[in-house]
Amino acid sequence: MPRDMGSIGAFSGRGSGSEQSRQAGLPFSGIPPELAKGVTGIIAREPEDDHVDVSFEQTEKTSSPFTLRTLFTPHYPALGLAFVLVMAQTAAMQIGPLLTQIGIDKGIVKANVKVLVWVSLTYLFAILLNSITGYARIAWTGRLGERLMMTLRIRVFSHIQRLSLDFFTEEMSGRIMTRMTSDIEALTNLLQDGIINLMVQALTMIFVIGVLFTLNAKLAIILITVVLPAMLILTLWFRKVSDAGYGVVRDRIATLLADFQENLNGIRVVHAFYRQKQNITHHLRLAGEYAQANYYTAKAGAMFDSGSTVIAVFGQALILLIGGNMVLKGTLTIGELTAFLLYLTSFFAPIQQLVQLYNTYQQGQAAVTKLRDLLSLKPSVPESQTAKDLPCIEGEIDLDGVNFSYNSGKPVLSDIHLNIRPGETIAFVGETGAGKSTLAKLIMRFYDPTHGRISMDGHDLKDVTFKSLRTQLGYVPQEPFLFGGTLRDNVAFSNPEADDDEVWEACRAVGIEDLVKKMPNGIHTVIHERGSSLSSGERQLVALARAFLAKPRVVVLDEATSNLDLASESRIELALDALLQGRTAVIIAHRLNTAMRADRIAVFDHGRLVELGCHDELLANHGPYARMYEKWIKQSH
Ligand SMILES: Nc1ncnc2c1ncn2[C@@H]1O[C@H](COP(=O)(O)OP(=O)(O)O)[C@@H](O)[C@H]1O
Ligand SMILES: [Mg+2]
Repeated sequence: MPRDMGSIGAFSGRGSGSEQSRQAGLPFSGIPPELAKGVTGIIAREPEDDHVDVSFEQTEKTSSPFTLRTLFTPHYPALGLAFVLVMAQTAAMQIGPLLTQIGIDKGIVKANVKVLVWVSLTYLFAILLNSITGYARIAWTGRLGERLMMTLRIRVFSHIQRLSLDFFTEEMSGRIMTRMTSDIEALTNLLQDGIINLMVQALTMIFVIGVLFTLNAKLAIILITVVLPAMLILTLWFRKVSDAGYGVVRDRIATLLADFQENLNGIRVVHAFYRQKQNITHHLRLAGEYAQANYYTAKAGAMFDSGSTVIAVFGQALILLIGGNMVLKGTLTIGELTAFLLYLTSFFAPIQQLVQLYNTYQQGQAAVTKLRDLLSLKPSVPESQTAKDLPCIEGEIDLDGVNFSYNSGKPVLSDIHLNIRPGETIAFVGETGAGKSTLAKLIMRFYDPTHGRISMDGHDLKDVTFKSLRTQLGYVPQEPFLFGGTLRDNVAFSNPEADDDEVWEACRAVGIEDLVKKMPNGIHTVIHERGSSLSSGERQLVALARAFLAKPRVVVLDEATSNLDLASESRIELALDALLQGRTAVIIAHRLNTAMRADRIAVFDHGRLVELGCHDELLANHGPYARMYEKWIKQSH
């Protein structure tokens, strides 16, 4: 069943009206009331924005690799129309020198005013036609290009939604950002300017060469044999130099943006350690490298530009010399020579434009390659082709010989056998780095075990659909993430259909009701990006409320209350007990007083399960748990 992506897209917008952000002390970012009516009108008239009904499936249907061709194929008719418009525009633009020739030879030389008038009127008409087709062409290709880009953006976004967590750990987020910013922009440039311009220039060249030959074949042959080889050599040189240059430019801009993004994310730490100066120095180095790479390609472009100008001027001088002689001998009319020289400009202009176009093409092609690489990535934790929906579960979790290592290959979990009974609360304890969070992630199926099997109510996690699995699980990660938007949106993230009463109830359950009541707009208060306007303990409580609103069968809490002070923790402990009633719960506990309350405690050490039992049993064992407990008691007194 397709997951409704529309609700995710509408997330930050819903319920966060201008009034709320104003009261929350945020800058006003909505639609001013006096413009609201106009905007509604426009939206009503825009059929494309009418409804957002997106389907999302874990397994991508199309598997054809992303190329310019596959991007264009569905739009051939529209491209055909663009081509016709380009032809019309080019013809209208290039008729000018021909008319000049007729005007000079048949009008001025023969003193025929009628011809002059007709020629002028035709000229006027041609220019009008040029403007109209030009407008139509740009409007049409602009619309087509924007549509293509929108489709592509959504395709990339959806693809990223599908990828598994290891991708996001290993890939710098700044680099992922460049796929959506500079790469898509490069493609837009290629589509809207590049390709059409290339068509215009190519058509112009063909047209002009044809006209040159009809005007005077001898002159045309001289021109082509002298000028073309020189141009060809220059172009080949430029191609080679700029291919290499642009590769470097792209790599360096990605690194520069990634550094910027990381700096933004870590700005609090930067301030705390007063590292601004070092960061600026580092960024300066990256920006300098980027500038250097750009300078290199700019220099190559300048060489090409001036080189081709020299060739063009040389060609013109040559034609003036030879053509002028022909006029003197009477084998060429003045009008023909004028037209020839005028067309010569149109002949060289496209060649010189190639510099610009080649850059655009280069960047567009590189963007296609990068996007193809991204789009061809397969999720490392795939949904099986034959995946079935997990039926409503009791909540039994079985870990059978589970081994796991991250891509680095170092074993993180070794041979874990553990059966968690339905409705049981089990606590994972152990030193930092023992593998507790990793095991929680395996239960969520963020990763698959390298060996062994994890099942819920007897269904192997690998055999069930993600939707049916995740909707029955509630997860609070070690560092919960809140989205920019209202508190309500954040809590109801797990269950967008929940009404305000249910949201309040969830807040009450985790003990933040009073806090929320004191906020300027209650649950409609806007919290800043990542919830940075809340304390980390408050963020954890919001995340808890979010997990419980989904009413999951299985709850996984990864140090979900670690940032709370002891008083707040013990305050919500009773509430937690009630909430966990009847649910299977895996609780990773930092403080042993939380672990003590669990039905059973699993002790981990260096990726192994070393002890299992209830608090009293483990104490009586005098094993690792008893030692941990002893230490903890000593510390807390
Ligand atoms: N994404 C990752 N890639 C590689 N190694 C990781 C990753 N996440 C955690 N580890 C390593 O796995 C081990 C267990 O980590 P973790 O499960 O987070 O421990 P715990 O939650 O018990 O403190 C640690 O040695 C940690 O360095
Ligand atoms: Mg952990």
